[in-house]
Order: sequence, then structure tokens, then C-alpha cells
Amino acid sequence: MKKYYIQDIQDFKTRKKPFATITAYDYTSSAICSALEFPLVLVGDSASMVMFGYDNTTPVAMNEMLLVLKAVVRGNDAALIVADMPFLSYQPSKRDAVHNAGRFIKAGANAVKLEGGREVATKIEALVKSGIPVMGHIGLLPQSINAMSGYKIQGKTKDKAMTLIDDALLLEKMGIFSLVLEGVPAEVAEIISNKVKIPTIGIGSGPNCDGQIQVFHDVLGLSSFPPPKHAMQYKNLNKEITSALQEYKSDIEKF
Ligand code: KIV
Repeated sequence: MKKYYIQDIQDFKTRKKPFATITAYDYTSSAICSALEFPLVLVGDSASMVMFGYDNTTPVAMNEMLLVLKAVVRGNDAALIVADMPFLSYQPSKRDAVHNAGRFIKAGANAVKLEGGREVATKIEALVKSGIPVMGHIGLLPQSINAMSGYKIQGKTKDKAMTLIDDALLLEKMGIFSLVLEGVPAEVAEIISNKVKIPTIGIGSGPNCDGQIQVFHDVLGLSSFPPPKHAMQYKNLNKEITSALQEYKSDIEKF
């Protein structure tokens, strides 16, 4: 089985070949993604909701993310594994950023992702200088739910779109190897994708990014809560699992 490295992810852009990426949070789902040769798997801090049942991504802790990461790493021989740095694991200082990202790399991640534009540029630079590959993430930043008063599409005015474009170029200069664009108008995502040389990976940002990312539970309709508007749902596994378990329970109760 082919193991994907950063160069392979970047080659998708050079070859103009759209690519699908996905999140994973445990051994079994990671093994399925590995068998399908998803080139990149993100151990997203969306684990906060889908694995741990918190309301948003702010509560999940480094130790919780490390547990999830280790299971995903054990299940996957193919993908470049990117670990999402949880809220306040990198914002306070460059030292915190390098220390916590280092814990992920030592646990088997190939790269880390962190949210933010110019405000995290020095942290990204410090990580890259320490030899830790970084994926950027701009636009709608779920860890800023409190500061942004909820989840809102970003970059809708000309000024805000320009800020996103400048942030993308700055983060590229700081050395990120790819960039997630979340909740960005499709035309802004397209401009950014054309301006940067690194691959952009969109979620809720239209079809013109170099790749796309979706949350595992959203694609499969696994969660009991409704998926976000941008979810590309292919199944309602929550319904199917509920009915299978109901059948098993009833069968035993008839013994
Ligand atoms: O945590 C997450 O799932 C993400 C997305 C980009 C899907 O950050």
C-alpha cells in the first residue's frame, strides 16, 4: 500500500487532480480510510463533539486528542496523518505550540493543523523551523465560536475577502504545506486557490479548492444531531445502526 507524504499531497495540485480527504477518530474508521487510500486523514478537533460529546471544539484537551490520534495512527498505513491542535494548545506562545505539536508528532502524526491567519503566523513559523509540517486553516474558525459569536461564513465583503487572501499568502510564506478554507465564499476560495502554490482543501467553500475535506460522521450520517449545512451526506447510518441494534435487542428479549 502506498504511504502518502507531503510531496504527494502537493503533487495533486501540480497535476490539477482534485482529491478527497476526511477526518477519522478511531482505529476502525481509520482502517477503512486506509483501505480506501484516502491520501490525507485529519484527526480533527471535531472529535470534541463526535467522540466526546462536548458542545463545540473549545473543550477538547491535548490528552483526549492524543488518545484519538494514537488509535487513528494504528489503523492507517496509507494516509498522511494530520493532528488538529486543540484550542489553547498553541495560542499562548511559540513554546506551547512547539511543545504540544511535538507531542502529536511523537505519537505518530505526520503534521499538525492550527486555526487562524496573521495572528498565528509566528507560531507557524516556529513550528516549521522546528521541523514540524503545518496545515493552515482560515475562514470560519470553529475554535473562535465565542469570539465570532457563532459559526458564520467569512470573507463576504471585499475588505474581509482581501484579509483572507493576505492571510493565505502570509501563511504560505511562513511555510504551511496546505491550507484548509472553511466557510469561505466559493469565489474567494477560488481566488486564494489560484494565488497560492500550496494545495487548498475546502469545506463549505465551493468546488474550486484543490481538495475537499469532510467530517467522517457527516458523510455517513452517523451523529444523532443534524449535520452542518456544508455536509456531504451519503448515508444515514445513525438510522441503520439504530434499527440493527433494535432488532438484536428484540431478538434476545424473545429468548
Ligand atoms: O476538526 C475538524 O473536523 C476540522 C475540519 C476542517 C473538518 O477542522
